[in-house]
Formats: sequence, C-alpha cells, structure tokens
Amino acid sequence: MKTQIFQITDPAAQREKVLAAAEILRGGGLVGIPTETVYGLGANGLNESAVRAIFEAKGRPQDNPLILHIPGADWLERFAFDIPDAAYALAERFWPGPLTMILKRRENVPNVTTGGLETVGMRCPDHPVTLAIIEAAGIPVAAPSGNISGRPSPTCARHMIEDMDGRIDGIVDGGACGVGVESTIIDLTVTPPRLLRPGGLPLEELRAVLGEIAVDKAVLAPLAEGEKPRAPGMKYRHYAPKAPVTVVTGESAKTAAYIKNKATKKTGVICFSEYCTLFDGCTVEAIGAAEDKAEQARRIFDALRAFDETDVNAIYAQCPGDEGLGLAIANRLKKAAGFQVVALKEEEE
Ligand code: TXA
Ligand code: MG
Repeated sequence: MKTQIFQITDPAAQREKVLAAAEILRGGGLVGIPTETVYGLGANGLNESAVRAIFEAKGRPQDNPLILHIPGADWLERFAFDIPDAAYALAERFWPGPLTMILKRRENVPNVTTGGLETVGMRCPDHPVTLAIIEAAGIPVAAPSGNISGRPSPTCARHMIEDMDGRIDGIVDGGACGVGVESTIIDLTVTPPRLLRPGGLPLEELRAVLGEIAVDKAVLAPLAEGEKPRAPGMKYRHYAPKAPVTVVTGESAKTAAYIKNKATKKTGVICFSEYCTLFDGCTVEAIGAAEDKAEQARRIFDALRAFDETDVNAIYAQCPGDEGLGLAIANRLKKAAGFQVVALKEEEE
C-alpha cells in the first residue's frame, strides 16, 4: 500500500488536503493524524471494518478499546448517555485538550471500537488540522496512538512514517506535538471519578474541578499476574526500547551520580539537560531541564525511540517527581522499564 503524505500547516488555506484526508476516513481508510498529545491512527469509529484495520495495522490486541475523537462537547450525546454534569464542566474547562472522559456508551458505537466494554472514551483534541478533518468528515474518529503496538507513541510525522509507512492510506503531517504524552483518562462512570491514565492534563487540575479522584492502581505499580486493569491498555508492555530500561528516582543530582557510577560506553542515558556533560562517552538523550516538565513531556518518546538506532545494551533514566506533568512522564518511563525502578533512599543519597 502506498501511504500518501499530506503536509498541512494551515487547514483553511489547504482545504483540499483536509478534504482529501476526510474523504479517506469517510471511505473506511486509515489516516495518521496529528494531535496536541501524540499522533493518532485514525479511522471512522462507527465503521467496524475500518476499526478492525486499525488493530491490524498496529498489531494491537482486540480487547484494547479505542478513544473516539469528536469536535466538541455537543457530540457527546450522540455516542454516550447518562452523562454527568461533571463531564460538561470538564469539557467546558479543558476541551479541546489532553483529556479523555470515559462515559456509558450508546448502542451505535460498535463493540470492536470499545473492546466489548459498555463504556466509551471520548476526547476533543486541540489541534486545528485534525479538528478540521474530523469536522469535514462528519464522523467520530477512533484513534489510538499511531505507534506499532508496544513501541513509544509517535510525537512527529517522522515517527508516524517510521511505524506506519506502507501500512495505512495516509499520514497528515501537522508538525511536532506540543504536549508529547497522551491524554489524561478519567472514568466518570464511577464514584469517585477514577484516573485511569495520567497524561497531558495534570491530576491537580482535574482535582480542582472534581474534588476527590481515585487513582487506579495500574498507574503507579505493575499489575499482579492475572489482575485486570480498568483501562485494558495499561496491562500491556509499552513504550519500551529494545535495550532494558532502569528508572532511577530521587533528588536529581543524586540520581545523576548513581547513573554515572553505573555507566559504560554501551549505556544509554536519559537525563535532565544540566547533567548532560556528566555522561560524555555514553549515548545521551537530554529531555530538558530538571524543572521543565513540559519540555520533558515533549521529548520523552523521541528519546525512548532514539536508542533503537544505537547499540546500547542498557538504558538508565532520571525521572521527575510526581507533581504536575511529572506523574505522566514518570508513568511512561516506568512502563518502558517494566517497572524496573531504583528508588534512592536517604541513606543511599
Ligand atoms: O492522547 C491520546 O489519548 C492519544 C491521541 C491519539 O488522542 N490516543 C491514545 O490512544 O493514547 P491509545 O489507544 O493509545 O490509548 C488509549 C487508552 C488505552 O489504554 C485503552 O485501554 C484506554 O485508553 N481506554 C480506551 N477506551 C476505554 C474505556 N472505555 N474504558 C477504559 N479504558 C479505555
Ligand atoms: Mg497507545
């Protein structure tokens, strides 16, 4: 299959490309689409065979449900029912943006889209190109992250091409993703609402609107054998480079010293920018200053991908604290590490 690339910087001026991408989606095809979080692999979320093709292209297990991308809260009623007021309050405050809400699904959403669940994830992405495409297509676009299952999510068109060239009909290049980690997922069908995946919208901001929020166990720790997470995707190995990853948590000067002590020429290091020079001779991916979590979020998946082009045999990563975007970044790093974490305690520091 030849994958068409549509470069779109200005959806109004490049209307014919927007319409071409929308037409592929309407016709049951697959299109890589930019969002503010990560690139998605989009298809008509109401068309069963199109949705099946997503699972095939990604090599994704069929029980892992997809998020429906819609142009605004006024579409919620079409695909969900019993929608709590909190959903509208959150949409008003955070949409378009990196927030996915789990709601009770209507019958018109196919089983294959929701992985057989009675709920559906809904999100309005904050990207002018993709919003224009969804509006032109007039359909809810089901889109998981556009990576091959298990790989780090794509945060630019180059990543999307790396994973999907020749496998899908088109890729829309709308530039690099501004947020860089996937959306925050909140389940609004339970009381209190439950955080299923930390993401681009910090938990603190959600708590400011909703009050009490439970944090799903799968966010912070590996699941025990046979244990069932509430977001089915959380049980799969994810984001992992080929070389094994070890995450080191604690005060950043101390974690840098710990990694320095372990490092050889064959070590890959993910570090905060201020410690870069400490690792001369290693393969280094600096992800931004220790205090700049927005930059770390934008860089993290590209850094994880970059090691696969090298011959490193082990990767060590510095890790931000859990405040703000740190919770999502730390979650992605720990998942990439299969929860192989060295927590530096006071006496070791
Ligand atoms: O930022 C994002 O959310 C990106 C962009 C493309 O929008 N999408 C994304 O989709 O990350 P995906 O499929 O890679 O991750 C969605 C996660 C999976 O872990 C899935 O199991 C969970 O959301 N999920 C989807 N629908 C669900 C539902 N009804 N109940 C519980 N979890 C759900
Ligand atoms: Mg994904």
